Amino acid sequence: MYQHRAITEDLYWIGGNDRRLALFENVYPIPRGVSYNAYLLMDEKTVLLDTVDKSVSDVFLENLEHLLGERQLDYVIVNHMEPDHCAALGQVLHRYPEAVVVCTQKALDMIGQFFGAFPALRSQTVKEGDTLTTGRHTLSFVMAPMVHWPEVMVTYDAADKILFSADAFGTFGALGGNLFADEIPFESQWLEDARRYYTNIVGKYGPQVQALLKKAASLEIQMLCPLHGPIWRENIGWFLDKYMHWSSYTPEESAVMIAYGSVYGNTEAAAFLLASRLAERGVRNVLLYDVSVTHPSLLVAEAFRCSHLIFASATYNAGIFPCMETLLLELKAHSLKNRTIGLLDNGTWAATAGNQMRTVLESMQNMTILEPVIHIKSALTEAQLPELDALADAVAASL
Ligand code: FEO
Repeated sequence: MYQHRAITEDLYWIGGNDRRLALFENVYPIPRGVSYNAYLLMDEKTVLLDTVDKSVSDVFLENLEHLLGERQLDYVIVNHMEPDHCAALGQVLHRYPEAVVVCTQKALDMIGQFFGAFPALRSQTVKEGDTLTTGRHTLSFVMAPMVHWPEVMVTYDAADKILFSADAFGTFGALGGNLFADEIPFESQWLEDARRYYTNIVGKYGPQVQALLKKAASLEIQMLCPLHGPIWRENIGWFLDKYMHWSSYTPEESAVMIAYGSVYGNTEAAAFLLASRLAERGVRNVLLYDVSVTHPSLLVAEAFRCSHLIFASATYNAGIFPCMETLLLELKAHSLKNRTIGLLDNGTWAATAGNQMRTVLESMQNMTILEPVIHIKSALTEAQLPELDALADAVAASL
């Protein structure tokens, strides 16, 4: 049964929701599911904007066929060629061979890479500022390379002031009837997943997102239609501000994330004592995470949110505790920068984790490592409490 929804008088959401997938991109847990948004513009010409993941292709095709009825599909705009948005493209082109694919040259190359040759493919490649008039609407194309792949563009509808923003402004979380962000408690129930989605999927490409935000600033935008999550028609400035912080690697809050990797609980105990010392100094917003328990994608998101990051690691195989090493490499891979850091390590006979963590962090940009770095031999001693106090003082003073 079709599930399409009207957005305006001639624009429809025709995507689908997947609540069964455990890992998005086979990496990121999505306990609240994910939506794959596609849009159909029923102007004098009919225009499909992107398709969907194969998991929801059946309902998407039903939506498309039901809305088109006897009409033909004139254009398919491909903003992004990642398979979560293009898996159904082949089926669409087989059903509607007369449709013209509108995309960048890079996207056209990727169509060949993913689907092989379409002998009868009709295509129109576009560049920055090119337009397509479909009747009442004139669509213009804005290049957005590396937000999140190199072929990406976004599409702006000047008639209704809608930006079809590809992966930008998306979020994890399946849609539950309410299509618009202003219909759901976004800040309290969705923001965490939006941050986790942005930071993990697009976070590495902050400069490219900044470039897109700069271009978007010159457009009058009344609605954002992303490829995942709800549509924005109110409070767009609030969400843009989040993107400004995330893409410029500016902390959202003065907050302390303490992440620890502990084998028998002694490193954990030291981390908890440090958290307590911070609380006693009036520091609020201290979060303590066990890297063996919390998925790195959540910790990456928290590291983008918080101004201060403290890493406490047992030494393991003469190096950093494995889950801690994974976290640090993830943060580096996502180009995190501009944070204040505290370090603590533990080693019963040869503590090396601290120096190795420092090496990773010093290879990232503008990471300020506070002194003292605390070295524990098996378990924290009474004699080391002044050191712990000194680190707590340094954190509190720099907040
Ligand atoms: Fe949702 Fe980059 O694909």
